[in-house]
Amino acid sequence: MTLRQNVAILISGRGSNMQSLVRACSAPDYPAKVVLVLSNKADATGLDYAREAGIATAVISHKDYPDRASFDAAMDAEIRRHGAELICLAGFMRLLDSRIIEAWRDRMINIHPSLLPSFRGLDTHERALEAGVKLAGCSVHFVRPDVDTGPIIAQAAVPVLPDDTPDSLAARVLEQEHMIYPVALRLVAEGRVRVEGDRAFVDASCTMRSLRNPDSL
Ligand code: GAR
Repeated sequence: MTLRQNVAILISGRGSNMQSLVRACSAPDYPAKVVLVLSNKADATGLDYAREAGIATAVISHKDYPDRASFDAAMDAEIRRHGAELICLAGFMRLLDSRIIEAWRDRMINIHPSLLPSFRGLDTHERALEAGVKLAGCSVHFVRPDVDTGPIIAQAAVPVLPDDTPDSLAARVLEQEHMIYPVALRLVAEGRVRVEGDRAFVDASCTMRSLRNPDSL
């Protein structure tokens, strides 16, 4: 029987990356199980998908707390109440306090729609187009206190085309996000990622070929 790590997924909106993780977790041999989808926004459309999939959901609004630390503490308590062992940030658009980040060190991962360390923060696709880069992409990384930083677990690149708009580029990148996030979560849940300083090293048996063919992992 597959040993499964309990995962909480944090979202703020559409939740398409959350959906790709939920779909991956439905495979019998996938090493993770989604125990909670938590949003800071009650109207996050991703919550409907999670509810329909029979997953526990929670809304903790940052507006109900006087500061970031108390908001994070409330989320932390809810996440632990559901028995989560790992946290996936999937379009969760609130900065987190360093206390919760340190409490979940190397057990909290994030997806960002750029080839980090380029284009951290917001409006990544606009800025990539303005910079004239020829490749864009996405990264899954362990979370550290500075925004969109931390050891990189997986990345995927796509070409930037001459007639791209931020939306067309975002759509091309998003397809790759949906591929690499489940792969990265699998690797972390199986304990196949080792962190040394600012770098993450993936078990040597995981090659780029297996990243392209997640079923082979
Ligand atoms: C995704 O593109 C994700 O990479 C990005 O927000 C989008 C959420 O979409 N996250 C960040 O920019 C974090 N810095 P989704 O809700 O459909 O997954």
